[in-house]
Amino acid sequence: MTTTETSFDVNHPVPDRYTPPPAGEMDAIAEVFSDGRLSGGAPVVAFYEQALAGWFKVARAIAVNSGTSALHATLTALEVKPGTEVLVPATAPLPTAMPILTCGATPVIVDTLPRTLALDPTDVERKLSKRTRAAITLPLWGYPTDDTAAAAILTDAGVPVVEDACQAHGTTVRDRYAGTGTAAGCFSTHDRKLLATGEGGFVLTNDPELAERIDFYTHLGHLQGRVHGVNYKLAAPLAAIGLRRLPRLHAQLAARRRHARHILDRLPPGGLLRELAYPDDSQPNYYQLVLTATAHQRETAAALEMLGLPPDSRRYRYRPLHQQPMFAPYASPCPNAEALATSTVQLPVHPNLPEATVEWMAARIATIAREGPTP
Ligand SMILES: Cc1ncc(COP(=O)(O)O)c(C=O)c1O
Repeated sequence: MTTTETSFDVNHPVPDRYTPPPAGEMDAIAEVFSDGRLSGGAPVVAFYEQALAGWFKVARAIAVNSGTSALHATLTALEVKPGTEVLVPATAPLPTAMPILTCGATPVIVDTLPRTLALDPTDVERKLSKRTRAAITLPLWGYPTDDTAAAAILTDAGVPVVEDACQAHGTTVRDRYAGTGTAAGCFSTHDRKLLATGEGGFVLTNDPELAERIDFYTHLGHLQGRVHGVNYKLAAPLAAIGLRRLPRLHAQLAARRRHARHILDRLPPGGLLRELAYPDDSQPNYYQLVLTATAHQRETAAALEMLGLPPDSRRYRYRPLHQQPMFAPYASPCPNAEALATSTVQLPVHPNLPEATVEWMAARIATIAREGPTP
């Protein structure tokens, strides 16, 4: 890598939007048009679902029209409804938690273990009740979580776990992909995600009965008049895009991991910044590279923003769930999640970034880590 800065404009933030290289999408859409069937009932949607199930090594994939629909349909299929409660980590962004409200259920906000995204088992135990119908785990920013301890408590209590893997396509947790080790995993394929179809999403599960319930719910009960449903089907042209882009996911993951490694290798040992912790034998997908500042957090965030690298708290108003006005009624103390939200900074490492930009970022971030966020 060179240290040239000529391709980088310091007056603009480093773009965090990734546009994948062409994968024959126009041909795929043309094929759908010549077939004439554009709805979610077209054969290409079933092919896409089979391809997803194969890629993620699960029994069933159900394509839907958004990650929000994936979460709402899964919670509904698990009988989350008024009078029930859903445990959700305080690190959750709004789209993780809003589907709980859509079900008419009560979110119960749970703390995470110190300096990680894993559910705090003690807080889970404290907040479990007879009304708890489901729990959500969240590999936020594509970072693997080790929820083994919380999952054991939830399994004992008969509470199914749903993983919101909307940002975690290709993240691995030991020998499995994120979103494949719980009752169901919910994914988004919104334009910003690693697998992008514009809008869209899918649910993965190895539970055939749950798969059927989600499938019937998202397809108007297949118009059989037996069970209630909504229309959350993914339109055929979007499935065709997903089908073409899915095989490229491995190459994208490799590029993101290479960029992240380049920045991480430059961080001085014992410096101000270190990578967010994640379990051994696991790999983030680097939806974002996440660093935690051990001190001077506010100043570090400000210094990165000055460099055109604003953290999510500034770019997207990210904060712990109970600090969002609409979730304030469900607030309870979650000091670990609060500390994590204020100490983390998120950095783009997607494949569109020129090598020169990654090197520029690595050098600046290493300086902040070594010398502190001096103005
Ligand atoms: C963690 C998380 N959950 C849920 C969603 C909702 O996905 P969608 O935008 O496809 O509805 C998103 C996407 O914004 C997300 O990042």
